[in-house]
Amino acid sequence: MISRTGSEDASRWSALSSDYERARTREDSLDRLVEWPAERDLLGDVAGLSVLDAGCASGAKVAELVDAGATASVGVDISGDFIPDPPPGLELIHGDLSDLSAVPDLAGRRFDRILFLQSFGYAKDPVDALRTARAMLTDDGFILLTRTQPIRYAIERAEQNGTTLGEEYFSTDTFSYRHRNWNEDVVLTKRPYTMSDLLNTFSAAGLWIETTVEPQMPEDARREYPHKQAVMDKYLGILLFKLRPLAR
Ligand SMILES: C[S@@+](CC[C@H](N)C(=O)[O-])C[C@H]1O[C@@H](n2cnc3c(N)ncnc32)[C@H](O)[C@@H]1O
Repeated sequence: MISRTGSEDASRWSALSSDYERARTREDSLDRLVEWPAERDLLGDVAGLSVLDAGCASGAKVAELVDAGATASVGVDISGDFIPDPPPGLELIHGDLSDLSAVPDLAGRRFDRILFLQSFGYAKDPVDALRTARAMLTDDGFILLTRTQPIRYAIERAEQNGTTLGEEYFSTDTFSYRHRNWNEDVVLTKRPYTMSDLLNTFSAAGLWIETTVEPQMPEDARREYPHKQAVMDKYLGILLFKLRPLAR
């Protein structure tokens, strides 16, 4: 099962969504221990703010933001496998993050915060997707975007292929990927990227980086979950970017 974009992505993610959610909500998941706390920290107080979560999975994260006071918020995901009872003030929509302006009900709307949390890699055209999101921000709005450290995939592929880190890091060939904690039967096709690819994408979309964070495990979690610290030590974790529009 190999997928890249569009309807193929939808079927792969429909197959993966419950496995992803199960893995994400485990007590030792890196999302729970490292990523969501860091994402929450960068978002700060969301009371009275509208949030658009692009690639929201079940919608549980954006629902938590609405519980914390966010209003008129939306989650969009291609899997369409959402929490059954979203709180008032939250709409969950089956759609493609590649062109948010084409998602039903989003035309003409503006948001204070737009999130791409571990979902940006699935955009058909990354620059285009970000430009569209940028145009949907309110005047003081920002985008919170996270991506896996590209070195992680390069290390994995170098181990699998008997090659070197540099060969894989700078390779431009798409590659098949099975996530061992989600469902190894579902294979996604990923586009490789380097740090410069990522930074150039932000520039081309007319965004500047206000803050970048490389979150690590808190001390108590390191002691409690040494196997997860070992994963962080080997693969480094994720990058978080707070992106604002350059003057229009
Ligand atoms: C790794 S999960 C991250 C989920 C969530 N943002 C989080 O931080 O827990 C990637 C999500 O992107 C969604 N996705 C993949 N391709 C998409 C697309 N083209 N449009 C919308 N959502 C997509 C998947 O269904 C999945 O829920």
